[in-house]
Amino acid sequence: MLAHSLMNPTIATMTQSFDWKNSRNGKETTLVDMQCGKELMHHMAHPLLLVSSASVATEIYKTHELTFASRPPFIVDDEKLPYVGSSFINAPYCDYWKFIKKLCMTKLLGPHALELSRGVRLQELNCFLQKMFDSASSNKPIDLGLELVKLTNNTVCRMVMSTKCSYKDDEAEKCRKLVQETLDLAVKMSIEDVLGSLKWLGFWFYGKQAKDVFRRFDELIEDILKEHEDRREAKSRGYSDYQDLMDTLLDIYYDNQAEFKLTRIQIKAFILDLFIAATESSANAMQWAMAELINHPVVFKKVREEIDSVVGNSRLVEESDIPKLPYFQAVMKEILRLHPTATIITRQSREHCKIHGYDVPKKTSVLINLYAVMRDPQVWNDPNEFKPERFLVCKEREDSLYQEKEIEVLLSNFFTFGGGRRRCIGMMLSYCMMNATIAAMVQCFDWKTCGDGKETRIDMQVGKGMMHQLAHPLIAIPIARFSPISTME
Ligand code: HEM
Repeated sequence: MLAHSLMNPTIATMTQSFDWKNSRNGKETTLVDMQCGKELMHHMAHPLLLVSSASVATEIYKTHELTFASRPPFIVDDEKLPYVGSSFINAPYCDYWKFIKKLCMTKLLGPHALELSRGVRLQELNCFLQKMFDSASSNKPIDLGLELVKLTNNTVCRMVMSTKCSYKDDEAEKCRKLVQETLDLAVKMSIEDVLGSLKWLGFWFYGKQAKDVFRRFDELIEDILKEHEDRREAKSRGYSDYQDLMDTLLDIYYDNQAEFKLTRIQIKAFILDLFIAATESSANAMQWAMAELINHPVVFKKVREEIDSVVGNSRLVEESDIPKLPYFQAVMKEILRLHPTATIITRQSREHCKIHGYDVPKKTSVLINLYAVMRDPQVWNDPNEFKPERFLVCKEREDSLYQEKEIEVLLSNFFTFGGGRRRCIGMMLSYCMMNATIAAMVQCFDWKTCGDGKETRIDMQVGKGMMHQLAHPLIAIPIARFSPISTME
């Protein structure tokens, strides 16, 4: 996903146009040669390894996890394109990356920090549900995709810098566009990795457009930084003691003794990273979840029955109820397996290693196709089927112990959030946001789809672009079942 994941047509064509036969005819053939063909490799900036099987993904994420803990470098640096060179997501495995990861886990995304921000998520969910109730009472369709992006945007913005990006609808749309444009550009500019000596073309073609996107982001973020700086002054005069992630980053920026000297650009780049990584991915996953649930009414009904039996129907289902909802958890796992919204991930080898007996040279760029990995028939039975039961232990069954072991194997191959130390740092937050939101949408509403005046199934066609997303907007009409809003206040 993110700035470094790319669904590149060139690569897609490569996989189709080369014969991937394992031809170790006496000569030392590397896995890279095997995947890309010697001719093509000749023209590429770095050797490239395409991964679409669970067994090779496991080698990369587990067996050689430290070897593949870096990402390939971007060709442009901060001077040419601010933010790209300072990005945490693009950073190699280095002290800067370790420092930011530790900071982020303690202040924002670890279990303790998430417990402290639970109230913010609940308030934002409350606003979101209120809009669903408004739409239900006027029997009007609602664009769930747009509302879900607003929800994730607002939640993440408030958690990171105590502000919302979308008080008004047009601001939410502006913010969404900015993130989408950044993602699209990241794809286009990433072609440098396969262009070899022509690699500067990517920057020439898209550099101007990228500068414009980053300038607009800079305007947005600089204002918020200045507000935080004013608040720092107020704090030093004892007027306020509230501290969010941006305050912490500024403390480090102004501290001459800090363990790591952060630059202003690094702060902004990290905030942009969080935006890009957090908002569309979670909102897209929730759209897939609603689409699958609406198209599978039997599963929808079972989830609702489970929620009703655990929570009752007088209060809103909460994050803390989720561990008591095993069927619902299995459903969400299956949705994330079928729809890994960050489809293609990049890594780079930090040293030479062997995978399945083949040599992989140092600095090999790796593209992991998580969509293919999560549907690998070697691991997943009926890989394209929506079968939440595959993650459920049936205690009544005689072979339940064996079943538990089987599920353990499946979970050890569950790579929707990547793997190893570069695994998604927002995984826990995603589960909190997605589980609470989808459970509430099932608990509070029935859903009617609308197409040409008739009820229809949701069209599951996959859209273009670097993220795994629905091709068409997810528009539906909520029908209120009961309103727990008063219990949420
Ligand atoms: C459904 C939602 C999400 C999905 C499917 C997802 C998936 C991923 C994947 C596959 C990676 C690459 C991991 C690898 O290289 O092995 C990643 C990285 C990352 N994700 Fe997420 N993510 C989601 C939500 C979030 C959220 C909510 C945040 C932050 C608040 C976040 C922040 C990040 C960051 C910062 C990285 C880069 C980590 C690094 O390079 O060390 N993600 N994500």
